Amino acid sequence: MRIAMTGSTGLIGSRLVRHLTQSGCKVTRIVRGPTPEGVNTRVLRWQPDCGWIDRDRLEGHDVIIHLAGENIAAGRWTNRRKQRILYSRREGTRLLCEALAGLKHPPQTLLSASAVGYYGNKASGQTVTEADSAGEGFLAQVSREWEQSTLPAQEAGIRVVQLRFGMVLSREGGALAAMLPVFRLGIGGRLGRGDQMMSWIALDEIPSAVDFILKEEHLSGPINMVAPHCVTNREFTRALGRVLRRPTLFALPAPVARLALGEMAESLLLKGCPVVPQRLTDAGYRFRWPDLEAALRHQLKAE
Ligand SMILES: NC(=O)c1ccc[n+]([C@@H]2O[C@H](COP(=O)([O-])OP(=O)(O)OC[C@H]3O[C@@H](n4cnc5c(N)ncnc54)[C@H](OP(=O)(O)O)[C@@H]3O)[C@@H](O)[C@H]2O)c1
Repeated sequence: MRIAMTGSTGLIGSRLVRHLTQSGCKVTRIVRGPTPEGVNTRVLRWQPDCGWIDRDRLEGHDVIIHLAGENIAAGRWTNRRKQRILYSRREGTRLLCEALAGLKHPPQTLLSASAVGYYGNKASGQTVTEADSAGEGFLAQVSREWEQSTLPAQEAGIRVVQLRFGMVLSREGGALAAMLPVFRLGIGGRLGRGDQMMSWIALDEIPSAVDFILKEEHLSGPINMVAPHCVTNREFTRALGRVLRRPTLFALPAPVARLALGEMAESLLLKGCPVVPQRLTDAGYRFRWPDLEAALRHQLKAE
């Protein structure tokens, strides 16, 4: 299978490139800058900021995996950063999808990243599935516009799947990697009241789930990429403490988090959403890491 991927240097992309090349797929990386070091795959260039992509080299792929976007948690959400977070996803996706729609031989499938932020913030209790509508707030707006930007590909008859990722667990990057230093020192703890829901997925689950989605050709539209058991922040904190064999007695008070990180603290840390992978389970996907503690032990196995 010939696969082209944007965001291939990121947390999820790097893991997927390794898996797909090991499985015998021919992977083309769609890159913005110079060819990343150590890369031995084919490379295709695009400049999403300038609305340019090398259309000729985009021909000849069966599947496109689109993961690119300005990192959401890299810094305080100033107006400028929020612009970049939104623009990089909305305009980058539109550019890619219009290019795909105009190809002589468009790919069969586009897997396009999105996020559970689509649903906004909801308290524990009733779980949220792909049938729920978009919520309120900045991340919900970003996810909605990001997904809508895939329309040109859908209209061209390409099977489009929006992968709504929950928090991806890895020691290499993302939220878990950011928490590890504090927890290793034994000063980790819950955030605010700790009753906000966290929907998560082990990084090593993603290649299997992607294989499954590629094989199940009837699947299209949004798919929640989360484990079946979401947890409260308090449960997450305790599980991480047990895995690292460290106490978790401290708590970061909500006002301190808000003071340090502003709106980002509210959306990413102090509120959450109980999202479940309804469509994956209905389609018969069997999770390798459905439970948090086993997933943490696996991803942190060298600890
Ligand atoms: N990790 C999570 O917990 C999580 C949760 C929900 C949703 N997601 C979404 O899933 C996607 C992949 O996640 P990830 O964790 O692998 O992200 P990541 O590590 O931040 O990587 C994203 C990649 O996007 C490209 N990129 C960065 N800034 C960009 C910009 N301004 N314009 C265009 N491309 C840019 C970069 O690749 P190049 O330099 O190669 O272009 C980067 O490696 C992201 O869109 C993310 O929002 C992730």
